[in-house]
Amino acid sequence: MGRGTVKVLPWLDLRGKLGDYIYSGKVLDLLVLHLKIFPISLPLPFFFFLTQIFFLFFLFFFFDLTAQDPERILKMVKICCIGAGYVGGPTMAVIALKCPEIEVAVVDISVSRINAWNSDALPIYEPGLDEVVKQCRGKNLFFSTDVEKHVSEADIVFVSVNTPTKTQGLGAGKAADLTYWESAARMIADVSKSNKIVVEKSTVPVKTAEAIEKILTHNSKGINFQILSNPEFLAEGTAIQDLFNPDRVLIGGRETPEGKKAVEALRDVYAHWVPVDRIICTNLWSAELSKLAANAFLAQRISSVNAMSALCEATGADVSQVSHAVGKDTRIGPKFLNASVGFGGSCFQKDILNLVYICECNGLPDVANYWKQVIKVNDYQKTRFVNRIVSSMFNTVSGKKIAILGFAFKKDTGDTRETPAIDVCKGLLGDKARLSIYDPQVNEEQIQRDLSMKKFDWDHPVHLQPMSPTSIKQVSVVWDAYEATKDAHGICILTEWDEFKTLDYQRIYENMQKPAFVFDGRNIVDVAKLREIGFIVYSIGKPLDQWLKDMPAVA
Ligand code: UDX
Ligand code: ADP
Repeated sequence: MGRGTVKVLPWLDLRGKLGDYIYSGKVLDLLVLHLKIFPISLPLPFFFFLTQIFFLFFLFFFFDLTAQDPERILKMVKICCIGAGYVGGPTMAVIALKCPEIEVAVVDISVSRINAWNSDALPIYEPGLDEVVKQCRGKNLFFSTDVEKHVSEADIVFVSVNTPTKTQGLGAGKAADLTYWESAARMIADVSKSNKIVVEKSTVPVKTAEAIEKILTHNSKGINFQILSNPEFLAEGTAIQDLFNPDRVLIGGRETPEGKKAVEALRDVYAHWVPVDRIICTNLWSAELSKLAANAFLAQRISSVNAMSALCEATGADVSQVSHAVGKDTRIGPKFLNASVGFGGSCFQKDILNLVYICECNGLPDVANYWKQVIKVNDYQKTRFVNRIVSSMFNTVSGKKIAILGFAFKKDTGDTRETPAIDVCKGLLGDKARLSIYDPQVNEEQIQRDLSMKKFDWDHPVHLQPMSPTSIKQVSVVWDAYEATKDAHGICILTEWDEFKTLDYQRIYENMQKPAFVFDGRNIVDVAKLREIGFIVYSIGKPLDQWLKDMPAVA
């Protein structure tokens, strides 16, 4: 580890020096240091003796130097994170906030993204993020496009670059495309002049660390690289909360002495604010697989409740009541049991596809099929939703205006990656509907881009994504829910934004074509109230209107 690469607070520097002296047994140096601090004690032997005792007492008890390894005390590290995205940006901002003595640089090849991080309009919307960034930016948090400089100076390099699903060749449609990872690893090897810890932050398939290790060691020029897997578990919309108070931090590393040291160095960073009993240290593969497993389990819960929602509609049960009753079992728990139009986001589908591919590669087709089913149910749920809309509107939406309320994959984020809204909108456009879309955090350019992009293209750096050719004419994007719903035949609620719960539905009803439909893909509206106003309401997994019973949808 490089030392003194960052400007540290004077007392911390002193603390490091003292630790070094004690552990290296340089007693004479310690006395000299002591005299520098208490010069007055030299001519007074008794006073010298007293201050010496006080000095050692102070060191051992206040700094608790005996309990720690001097290497660790001295770790005034410099951190660099490659990839200033949804994971890299917020994670590094919180590390900078919680570790003021560490300098954190977040680098990216995207100039526009870095410019945005350096501006007042951050490139991602995340509650609480602005405050954190404002507190540290320019002090110990920097955003830069000078990737090589910051990587070469860093002690710890986090890698949080894109890992898209392959669209061609071996493993197409399932395996992760590690192009960006590989180029980041080669660049690290090229520019490094000192030993480094390289941390996998973006989710990667199991055994990626091994591949990266090979790239680094084969190009190392004698430099020691330690690879760690430190998957991020933050959820968007609550990222800052999750980072401040994580359920756990997972660090996987090699079980060699150097590997263990690297794990400790990273653990020390998190230990600034995370209780040590929440920092789990494992081997590399366990850490990599745990991340895929955690996301697969979460997605599986949603597909389970969504599968139940179809049965509820068929039988007259209410999925919210079923979820509530099931979730009361403490072994199951109440979280992540909200039926919806389907899960979205950059992780769930991609991670399960990775898992499926790994299972297939390891000769486990039955396990692969088990996990594939989670995605199939998710696709079924989105298709089912579109079919409900079309069938209930006399089996055609051609030329009809449908208002889409919410485009982000969940509330409190502007992220649209794998949002169910894309598939629902494409389904409706396929039936020639006219769409008027409103989302408080997603702009027109993003929506047009998403609706014209091919599957999996979204997970490439923005400058490599295909430009949206010509905008889709049947789609208009507006900045107000009332504007979106004016003259519409139907409303689809696709994101659970709080503001959609309190809209003036009476006013909306009056301005719509009749019969007026509401299709609630997030179960947020008061169904009884809306029916009273006059709407025909479909809410996922809830007892159906007579109208809908008379017009069954075939999924
Ligand atoms: C997820 C994991 O939660 C997080 O730990 C991991 O680091 C990244 O992937 P994220 O994708 O940000 O986080 O959002 P999450 O809250 O998990 O929601 C994912 C999707 O599931 C959203 O579309 C959400 O609306 C949907 N969802 C969630 C449901 O449909 N029902 C639920 O009960 C919960
Ligand atoms: P995540 O949700 O995992 O943070 P994002 O797509 O939001 O993923 O962010 C990944 C970032 O990584 C993008 O901003 C992209 O420009 C950046 N990136 C990809 N490859 C490189 C690279 N070789 N060097 C620097 N940045 C990179």
